[in-house]
Amino acid sequence: MSDHNNQSPDDKARRRFLTGVTVGIGALGAIAGVSPFLMSMAPSERAKNAGAPVSYDFSRLEPGQMVKVEWRGKPVVLLNRTPEMMEGLKKIEPDLADPQSEDTKSKQPVYAKNPMRSDESKPELLVMESVCTHLGCSPVEKLAIGPDEQMGENSQGGFFCPCHGSKFDLAGRVYKNVPATSNMSVPPYTFTSDTVILIGEDAGRS
Ligand code: FES
Repeated sequence: MSDHNNQSPDDKARRRFLTGVTVGIGALGAIAGVSPFLMSMAPSERAKNAGAPVSYDFSRLEPGQMVKVEWRGKPVVLLNRTPEMMEGLKKIEPDLADPQSEDTKSKQPVYAKNPMRSDESKPELLVMESVCTHLGCSPVEKLAIGPDEQMGENSQGGFFCPCHGSKFDLAGRVYKNVPATSNMSVPPYTFTSDTVILIGEDAGRS
């Protein structure tokens, strides 16, 4: 049986070295044991945050004002349309490719499948993914009613895509004879109060 007190200075130094190595390996083992757990958690947390619904208090949006929020990495337009803008949606219909959103390529929840493409409880509020249905650029808003260099003589306001010239009205409905062939998408949404909207969640209404 060995006796620690009888060890030479060399034996004691060797023992201290071996003890240190053992502790070090134990610590590495603990980290290695934890790391896979952290790594397996990270993507799902990221995915959860990326897909999480976004809420917005639209009481600060005056009639005619628009804001963009980000949902799932995409810009989503919220536009509080004026009565004049709503009237313009009817006037422009002969120039549109799919005014009733009947084409299956037009994506919107059932409650937004109407000419205004909005929930009937807040018809003036447009909620729309600002992503061109041609090749995915983000169209520029053209909110003024009247002649516009890009939107044309009879513009009732809309969105113009600078990439290849597609045009959409103030409900995201695509014009005829432009590169894009379908209306811009409407995401699922619901209202959590009279003034707060939740984008990305509609409590199964769609
Ligand atoms: S991406 Fe919009 S017109 Fe081509």
